[in-house]
Amino acid sequence: MEKRIAVLPGDGIGPEVTAGAVKVLEVIARRFHHSFEFVHGTIGGAAVDESGTPLPEETVALCEQSDAILLGAVGGPKWDSNPADQRPEKGLLAIRKRFGLFANIRPVKAVPALLHQSPLKEDRVKDVDLVIMRELTGGLYFGEPSRRTEDAAVDTLVYTRDEIERIVRAAFELSRMRKSKVTSVDKANVLQSSRLWRDVVEDVRADYPDVEVEHQLVDSAAMKLITNPGAFDVIVTENMFGDILSDEASVITGSLGLLPSASVRTDGFGLYEPVHGSAPEIAGKGFANPAATILSAAMMLRQSFGMEDEAAAIELAVQTVYEEGHCTADVAAKGVRPLSTEEWASRVAEEVDVQSVSNSIMFSYV
Ligand code: IPM
Ligand code: MN
Repeated sequence: MEKRIAVLPGDGIGPEVTAGAVKVLEVIARRFHHSFEFVHGTIGGAAVDESGTPLPEETVALCEQSDAILLGAVGGPKWDSNPADQRPEKGLLAIRKRFGLFANIRPVKAVPALLHQSPLKEDRVKDVDLVIMRELTGGLYFGEPSRRTEDAAVDTLVYTRDEIERIVRAAFELSRMRKSKVTSVDKANVLQSSRLWRDVVEDVRADYPDVEVEHQLVDSAAMKLITNPGAFDVIVTENMFGDILSDEASVITGSLGLLPSASVRTDGFGLYEPVHGSAPEIAGKGFANPAATILSAAMMLRQSFGMEDEAAAIELAVQTVYEEGHCTADVAAKGVRPLSTEEWASRVAEEVDVQSVSNSIMFSYV
């Protein structure tokens, strides 16, 4: 297959981690006889510096002419005091909205070789295999009015039935490929938008009688995610709750550096990015873990290109490299020399080159 991939490295560690993923994708193309063309564009602070806006029209055009988007991360202290529309984060929100990428899929799966890195007890995290399905283009992130004066500020939380229904359906569909269990997370004891959310879940579940459904309030869900993470299968929730819960869920695997994500719409077009941020404090030092971006690239192959074997090859390579004891600084055991971002990505790329695909695909989220 011939595919064109828009690569938007962004800020901080974004360029390092996306370079690692591109390296792995190049090996995939060679091994599986595909042709991947990588076209680079700017987003976030890098775009503000270069063209005065966090999502330049050239970048939008580049993405429109591509089959998928691979993104690093945006943000950093350099732009913290910029006006709201010139903040790097605005670029990320704008690209999600512009391309209608309403479904954000964030799989969280324990990595056997790294269980000891989790601050939680090993027996509590060893069976964790859940997916957070986060609504990505509505809610507090996009509601109007959103403004502040010196002494007052307002943000608006709006959801329509249609917006809720499409993400809830996506969650039910995904759950059917897994354990057929959906946990809908809301704050229905306080928020009107959550009460609508809960009603829609109740309506949609009628079409999925085989799927087990539970409602949890977000505060309680945050607690259960730590005390009994193995009990979750698919969690579906609104934008802000999903943002918070997915960072929380990363402690299960021991590092935010391991969590990939896909932001997709119904036709399969998607943007793939690590859950972690731009980590400006370690940028350029080779400390960053490219695993989340490499695994996001695997999600891209599966979700947008239908390349299941290719995705599995990457996931297996990541697993093998961890089993061999190779780690970046965030997950390296005491006394073990961590590999640099570039070295670790190269190990995964070499592994993809030599392996044969096995059935034990630990990162597969379906
Ligand atoms: C994420 C990030 C973004 C978000 C920020 C950078 C705008 O935290 O993708 O989780 O809040 O969605
Ligand atoms: Mn986040």
